[in-house]
Amino acid sequence: MERRIPVVVIGDVKETDKICRALKASGINTAEITFRTPCAADAIRYAASAFPEMEIGAGTVINAEQCERAIASGARFVVSPGFSSGVADVCRAAGVPYYPGCATPTEIMAAVSAGFDVVKFFPADLYGGIKALKAFSSVFPHVRFIPTGGVSAENEAEFLSQKNVAAVGGTYLVKDALERFGGENE
Ligand code: 3PG
Repeated sequence: MERRIPVVVIGDVKETDKICRALKASGINTAEITFRTPCAADAIRYAASAFPEMEIGAGTVINAEQCERAIASGARFVVSPGFSSGVADVCRAAGVPYYPGCATPTEIMAAVSAGFDVVKFFPADLYGGIKALKAFSSVFPHVRFIPTGGVSAENEAEFLSQKNVAAVGGTYLVKDALERFGGENE
């Protein structure tokens, strides 16, 4: 898994190429394309075929139907803001990694019971950030987290230095990549 996962929101499938190129130019070889916009599945399909060297996944997947579409479009991992047993079942059947969202110990225990031990910690900033991660590490030493929500260029190093952090996620990575490299093909 890449240690920095850009949370990508695509308004028009035509933006996909520019965003993936900018991410690659900034050294990021993954993209979590979110089901917050109607073109998400098309954008995943485009990115997975045009950028086979990138690990293209689906984010904000909140039900089994979206998950089926994401995987059929080529998503190689699936992320949710919370835990969905329907999404978990689809991912398990397809052999696709699933990172459910958790913010509390009870939610982490539910995800672990369902067989998932790498979870998205969301919204990380509102649920205690680094302090919460340290507290989780003593009670859930085998669980690793992907803090997302409020992660930025300024605080990512601190998050990444936590021993139970597998990766960080955020929209800031897309914004930074586009600012630095978004104009190169225009
Ligand atoms: C997500 O879905 O992961 C969050 O909306 C990303 O939060 P951010 O915009 O603070 O990075």
